[in-house]
Amino acid sequence: MRIVAPPGTVDALPEEVRTNRFVEAVFMDKCRLFGYSEIHTPVFEYGGLFEKGVGKVTDIIEKELYSFTDKSGARLALRPEGTTSVTRAVLQHGLNRELPAKLCYKITCYRQENPEEGRLREFHQIGAECYGSEDPRSDAEVISLAFEALRAMSVENLTLNINSVGCPRCRVSFENELARYLLPFANRGELCPTCAERLGKNPVRVLDCKEAGCRAVKAGAPKVVDYLCPDCLEHYERVKACLRAMNIPFDEKPGLIRGLDYYNRTVFEFKGGGGGANGTVGGGGRFDALSRRIGGEADLPAVGFAIGEERVVLAMSDGGSGAAAPEKPAAWVVAEDAGAAAGCLLALRSAGVRAEGDVMGLSVEEQLARAAESGARWAVFPEKGGLRIKNLATGEERPASDAAEAVRIINKG
Ligand code: HAM
Repeated sequence: MRIVAPPGTVDALPEEVRTNRFVEAVFMDKCRLFGYSEIHTPVFEYGGLFEKGVGKVTDIIEKELYSFTDKSGARLALRPEGTTSVTRAVLQHGLNRELPAKLCYKITCYRQENPEEGRLREFHQIGAECYGSEDPRSDAEVISLAFEALRAMSVENLTLNINSVGCPRCRVSFENELARYLLPFANRGELCPTCAERLGKNPVRVLDCKEAGCRAVKAGAPKVVDYLCPDCLEHYERVKACLRAMNIPFDEKPGLIRGLDYYNRTVFEFKGGGGGANGTVGGGGRFDALSRRIGGEADLPAVGFAIGEERVVLAMSDGGSGAAAPEKPAAWVVAEDAGAAAGCLLALRSAGVRAEGDVMGLSVEEQLARAAESGARWAVFPEKGGLRIKNLATGEERPASDAAEAVRIINKG
């Protein structure tokens, strides 16, 4: 029997974890600078939450949601994304009483997709959401946060695509026009069965279908941005003006819509690395109606984004190797007597020194060889009445009366 993990999941080995931690640390540091506080939400929620939030007629819900019934009969689902859960938590805990509420997160997400490079069934997102403002400045602020973070992660060939998908009012005329355009293709059997089925329910979804036939149809389709009402148009212009003022380069993509139904007005995606279908390293937009979609009393203006950690690592200029240097121990404790070694290690570690010692039953000579291989600067020998400490780079040795003195020598370098 081969021992393997399920398809679409990956084990992150220590080197990869170090890269992931680097990515997360860069992100959280940027979040701190922008005034966002971290929030944690559960890995699973009531299944209906995502249906209402993300939209019933989307790939994420129709094809990809991991849902199950627990022993109590409750229908639950693993989160496919963070925004719906964070919005649920904001409403549940009244975080919308003091606005803006600026929240960030690092989470695992689950989508039953066809696994390939950069497309997993369990993946990691880092993201941020700003609640409480309709002002284009908040759209520009979250885009700027994502941009600064991705740049600091040295994502190669970073580009930003933006669009506006309007508000429900201006969307009606667009959706009617789109359905009119798509109908002849459906009648001729040129749409995939899912899109043909979705035409009457949610025609916009045809525009992000990955099937070759539907992608060809998309090219001549009406563009949502051409149907914006004056307010949405003004909002879009002001977002672009803010981005220009911040020197954030962007491309307008009139065909950009996103795979989740909760967006209105601004939508955006960041591409990086070699491009391609899985070159989208992050995406987001405004989602003013999500609060009401999931049962809140009213809309709650909000805008945010999420970045795919695995995608970022693929797009980093050094593949993440720059971040992955393992930390070397400062000291290696070499001793024949296990008790003496343990006491010395404890004293060093308690004083904050990264110290290692033998756990394999090695001889003193073998321990010394390990100390040298580890790259430790110091070998520490517990001896009767004190310690001996050796600089492994120069070979120089000196006595230390106790662990505290050894720590002082080690910390001096
Ligand atoms: P999303 O575009 O579905 O948006 O996902 C955000 C990012 O997660 C993508 O750009 C991609 O980098 C990564 N990602 C998505 N699916 C996969 C996958 N199967 N494997 C690996 N990485 C993946 C959202 O999830 C929204 N909640 C973003 C948002 C936040 N909008 C507003 N606030």
